[in-house]
Amino acid sequence: MDWEDEGEPGRMFWLAVEGKAGQKLRRGIGRLLSWDPIYGDMKRYRFAQGTERASRIAIVNHMIHVNNYQSYLEIGVRRKSAMFEEIHCNKRISVDPDLKADADYPMPSDEYFARYDHRFDIVFIDGNHTGDQVKRDIEHALGRLNPGGVILVHDMNPPTRFHGRTTYEVAGTFPSWNGTSWKGYAAHRRTRSDLTMRVVHTDWGVGIVHPGSQEPYPGPCDSYDDLARDRNALLNLISVPDFLRLYAEPLTHEAQ
Ligand SMILES: C[S@@+](CC[C@H](N)C(=O)[O-])C[C@H]1O[C@@H](n2cnc3c(N)ncnc32)[C@H](O)[C@@H]1O
Repeated sequence: MDWEDEGEPGRMFWLAVEGKAGQKLRRGIGRLLSWDPIYGDMKRYRFAQGTERASRIAIVNHMIHVNNYQSYLEIGVRRKSAMFEEIHCNKRISVDPDLKADADYPMPSDEYFARYDHRFDIVFIDGNHTGDQVKRDIEHALGRLNPGGVILVHDMNPPTRFHGRTTYEVAGTFPSWNGTSWKGYAAHRRTRSDLTMRVVHTDWGVGIVHPGSQEPYPGPCDSYDDLARDRNALLNLISVPDFLRLYAEPLTHEAQ
């Protein structure tokens, strides 16, 4: 197993909490309380498309609704019923190399971007969960955004080292996993003053990236310890109410 923390105290605990039965129980309690300390905010809010629980899907649909977006790309689908079919947009395109995902473009994202030059209003990145790949997916998606468009990136806020491990499988099981995707986002947080970047604290962290401006994050972003030490500033973490306030109006080309 490629997991730097194998044998660390806490591994057995998280294996139980994030095993199938543990996950079910934890999510049930989280839904009752509308808050899950490791998944994030699960409260119901008035999004532009209606009142619903905070989640990656609610965030994507809110951006589509407010901005009247017409075209959506999802990188990494797994099961269309889980997210893709819940997105309300005129034109939807999916990319996933796993044939079981039944994507429109059954190939890795690098190949898709190399072969096709489609443009989009909104891109959701949730494919290969390594920092290098997410960094490239963000770069490629930025090159395909229409003016006023936005990129959303899943799994930006692994709540523990266990969730941010490098491989999905642990001892033959598949507990909740965010991978090292956050490192791809962080690479741009460190260097790109021409982007606005935030992470909404729901659904394992939903990153928002669009042309704009930011003070690049000055600290190190190399290890989980770097993230844990300075999570709010490194990610530019915002609450769901902050998201609703900041993204109540369409993104304009100039005002981004
Ligand atoms: C976490 S799942 C996606 C879940 C889905 N977006 C949702 O929210 O329900 C990750 C998917 O990414 C796919 N994937 C892995 N590597 C990829 C790549 N290089 N390009 C595109 N998709 C990839 C996997 O096959 C898997 O189906």
